[in-house]
Amino acid sequence: MPPALEIENLRKHFGGVSAVDGVSLALESGRIYGLIGPNGSGKTTLFNCITGVERRDAGRVAFNGERIDGLKPWVIAQKGIGRTFQVIRVFPELSALENLMVVTRGSRAAARARALELLTFVRLEGLRDEYAGNLSYGQQKLVEFVRVLMRDPSLILLDEPAAGVNRTLLNDLLDAVRRLRDRGKTILLVEHDMKVVMGLCETVFVLDHGEKIAEGPPGVIQTDERVIEAYFGR
Ligand SMILES: Nc1ncnc2c1ncn2[C@@H]1O[C@H](COP(=O)(O)OP(=O)(O)O)[C@@H](O)[C@H]1O
Ligand SMILES: [Mg+2]
Repeated sequence: MPPALEIENLRKHFGGVSAVDGVSLALESGRIYGLIGPNGSGKTTLFNCITGVERRDAGRVAFNGERIDGLKPWVIAQKGIGRTFQVIRVFPELSALENLMVVTRGSRAAARARALELLTFVRLEGLRDEYAGNLSYGQQKLVEFVRVLMRDPSLILLDEPAAGVNRTLLNDLLDAVRRLRDRGKTILLVEHDMKVVMGLCETVFVLDHGEKIAEGPPGVIQTDERVIEAYFGR
């Protein structure tokens, strides 16, 4: 089986900044991966290039063995890649349930059933009729997270899902991510909290100035000289 996602020598620059500078990595299906690196190291840009939101300058991205670089974002989404954004994008004046139902999938009844199932998945079913704008920040992030699941993607990219989320909701989120993995989904998440990364990820990729400087189990990564230098050395 080809990797769920394979990136080869991906490059993206903005003016004089090499946001992603020749990154290669591969994700096997049914695993949870971490993507870490200091602010501005290219994590979000990498997500944007994978999902077609940004046009890459060079390199290759293959999803289940099929090239997807150069495709439009909605085509890539339809193929089975879902992602959340670093900045929350819920509709405050729609209910939690409606926020999910905007991602239509077959009939309205089917979308509603799926949306309810997903809210239950993260224990938010009791808040289904609440305006999203009235939910706590953490609850909004959970709504956004499960909205990504409406289309049942096989690869899920999460951009700082835990940031600003309280302990209880964080545990619900982490538990949901593990259950997705147990159902065969592949997950790549950007996360700053090393405790979250250690508890969740089998393999971590480290970016610095757009380059992948390390890759391995989180325990090993934490003691890597280049990684320590990237975080604390300047
Ligand atoms: N749309 C953009 N226009 C110009 N520069 C950008 C843009 N997006 C990102 N950058 C720059 O690319 C680099 C990587 O940014 P980003 O991918 O957001 O990093 P991270 O998510 O790791 O914090 C930074 O120097 C950032 O300023
Ligand atoms: Mg970012």
